[in-house]
Amino acid sequence: MAERVVFDKPKVELHVHLDGAIRVPTIFDIAKRRGINLPAKTTADLTRRICLEEPTTLTVFLDKFNEYMHVVAGDREAIKRIAYEFVEDKAKEKVIYVEVRYSPHLLANTEVKPIPWNQQEGNLSPDEVVRLVNEGLREGEMAFNIKARSILCCMRHMPSWSMEVVALCKKYQHEGVVAIDLAGDESLNCEANPEHRMAYEEAERCGIHRTVHAGEVGPASVVKEAVEVLKAERIGHGYRTLQDRDLYTKLLDKNMHFEMCPISSKLTGACEPEFTKHPIITFRKDKANYSLNTDDPLILSSTLPLDYSIAEKFMGFSEEEFKRVNINSAKSCFLPKDEKEVLVRRLYEAYGMIESTPF
Ligand code: NI
Repeated sequence: MAERVVFDKPKVELHVHLDGAIRVPTIFDIAKRRGINLPAKTTADLTRRICLEEPTTLTVFLDKFNEYMHVVAGDREAIKRIAYEFVEDKAKEKVIYVEVRYSPHLLANTEVKPIPWNQQEGNLSPDEVVRLVNEGLREGEMAFNIKARSILCCMRHMPSWSMEVVALCKKYQHEGVVAIDLAGDESLNCEANPEHRMAYEEAERCGIHRTVHAGEVGPASVVKEAVEVLKAERIGHGYRTLQDRDLYTKLLDKNMHFEMCPISSKLTGACEPEFTKHPIITFRKDKANYSLNTDDPLILSSTLPLDYSIAEKFMGFSEEEFKRVNINSAKSCFLPKDEKEVLVRRLYEAYGMIESTPF
C-alpha cells in the first residue's frame, strides 16, 4: 500500500530554487542533445552523483551544482523546459501558488567568463534567461492550472551583478517577476559589498519585494543586516535568528515571515541533524509566521510532501498547524494585494475554514 501523503491539500511554496529543482532525466536528455559528456551512464548513476543522502557541509552541497549546471546554463531550450517541468512537478504536489527563484546570471553561464556576457557571441544573456523562464512558467501555468511567479537572485560573491538583477526585476515586474533575493556565502556582508545594498534600495524605491537568505549557516547578525540594511520583508531560512533573543522577539512582533526548509537545513549541515531538536519547533511553538519549503529538491532528492511528513513525524506538526502555515504563506507571498486575497480565500475554502483575520 502506498504511504499516506501528509497534508494532501492545496499548498503554497515560497522558497525553492529553479536550478535546484530540475528532473535528473531532463539533465541526462539535454546533455545528450548538446553532446555534453557526463560522468554517468544512466540516470541512476547521475542521481547518485548529484543527490545528497547524508548531512554534509554547505560547501559540499553547493559543489553539487557543478555536476550539472553547465548542462542547462546557456541553452535556450533547456531553460524554458526546466521552468515548464517545474510547474508540472509543483502541480503534482498540490501546490497552487509557488514563487521560484534563480540567478539569471548563473543560468546564463556568465560567471567564469572574463569578458562581459554581452560581448560573447552566441551566449545567452541574463535578460534572455528571464524571458525564457517567464515563458516556461506561463506555459506551465496554463497547462497545469496553478500560479507560478519568480524571484531573481543576487549572489553574495558577485556584487557586480546586483544592479543588473534589480534592473531585470523592474523590467519584468509585470511579467511574473515579483521580488529580489540575495543568496550565497553569508560571511560576505553588505558593508564590504555596497552594491547589494544599492540594489535593494532601488528595489524598495520601485516597489519590488525583498527577501534575503540569512541566518541559515550565518549568525543572527546577518538576519539583522537583512532586515535593517536591506529592508527584507521575508527571511530565507533564518534559523539562527534564535541566537539573538532581542532580534527574534522584535521580528515576531513585526510578524516577519521566515521561509523554512526542513530537509535542506539538515542535509546542508545548517542545523543539527536531529529533526526533533530543529529550530523550526521553537518557531512553531511561538506561533511565528513561516512557510515550509523544499529549497533544492533535486540535490536533496526530496519533495514538498516529504518535508511535510518530516514536520509531522519529528516536529509535532498537526493538520491545524499545516493550515496555519499555508495561510500565513499566502498572506506573506509577493503577489499584488487583490491576487493575494483571492489566494488566501481559496485556501480558507479548501480547508473548510471561515476567514477570520483580515489582512
Ligand atoms: Ni535557498
